[in-house]
Amino acid sequence: MTILRSVVLGCGSYLPERVVTNQELAESVDTSDEWIVQRTGIRQRHIAADGEVTSDLAIHAARAALASAHVDAQSIDLIVLATSTPDNTFPASAVSVQAGLGVTRGAAFDLQAVCSGFVYALAVTDSLLRTGAYARALVIGAETFSRILDWTDRTTCVLFGDGAGAVVLEAQQQPGGRDDRGILTTHLRSDGRHKSKLYVDGGPSSTKTVGHLRMEGRAVFKHAVAMITDVIEDAFRATGYTAADIDWFVPHQANKRIIDDSARRLGIAPEKVVTTVDLHGNTSAASIPLALNAAIKDGRIKKGDLVLFEAMGGGFTWGSALVRW
Ligand code: ACO
Repeated sequence: MTILRSVVLGCGSYLPERVVTNQELAESVDTSDEWIVQRTGIRQRHIAADGEVTSDLAIHAARAALASAHVDAQSIDLIVLATSTPDNTFPASAVSVQAGLGVTRGAAFDLQAVCSGFVYALAVTDSLLRTGAYARALVIGAETFSRILDWTDRTTCVLFGDGAGAVVLEAQQQPGGRDDRGILTTHLRSDGRHKSKLYVDGGPSSTKTVGHLRMEGRAVFKHAVAMITDVIEDAFRATGYTAADIDWFVPHQANKRIIDDSARRLGIAPEKVVTTVDLHGNTSAASIPLALNAAIKDGRIKKGDLVLFEAMGGGFTWGSALVRW
């Protein structure tokens, strides 16, 4: 008997043209390239142009993913956009993406889980595809965090960047074992007791403003590695795979120290870890598909490889996904 799996057909990404280096930031806030690189591994980030909104970035990434999958936008019947920086409070930015791509059927909606957004969106889309209700989906992570940063707060403004990444998923019959292609397992968690450690101090229902990102960096750091390793161990338990079986580890790109510590604790070899935080900063829900696309484009990730994703972010939310390419 076969089962439906969500198989990745293609991947694409987009970064705004403007690059802001650590040195450039140090001209306006009291920081230094040395401090930022040592604490985070970040060297530069991309910042969206005036008037360039999250759905613009998402449409570029979606088009690139469709091209890499060799499929037409008209074949898409589900669009899930992970973002915490939507164009407007409503409608969902996903419908702007849908309209931008010229798609008029199926469903499109936003999903908000901050930096875990892409993993959450993969899990939700996988569930919908496996019901058979939808056939081919775009899962997108897109953010313009530059719009919610307090550019006078050196403890946060140096950490984030803008960008977008997308994958095309298709429901395909597979034999039903752990060697199948597609999403093999996903695990999502949240714990709202930590909601004030990383949040935005505004919103339509509370302040009627957009607000700025606030974070207790040290507290986030303290929880991150334990939460990440825990939810990855869930993925290993569910499939019987171990760290040694992983071909590529594509983590959320928040901080190089968190990435390295997590990989070390799990026993994943450093050469299997995909890192782009140095070039992109933390692009929240966009960081995983941006890193993923970099590793596909340079030929590291190939068909048949076992790829592990993880993310942790505001809420706290966290999650993992194990995918056979
Ligand atoms: N430049 C120079 N000095 C700075 C800067 C800066 N940009 N920012 C803070 N400092 C100073 C602080 O004021 C402090 O000075 P003090 O000792 O005189 O008080 C000193 O540096 C150390 O500050 P800490 O906050 O203790 O530094 P830490 O080593 O913890 O690094 C960091 C801070 C990089 C934020 C780290 O805690 C971290 O990465 N945390 C996790 C953040 C994260 O991953 N967030 C994303 C989660 S995903 C999401 O959902 C958005």
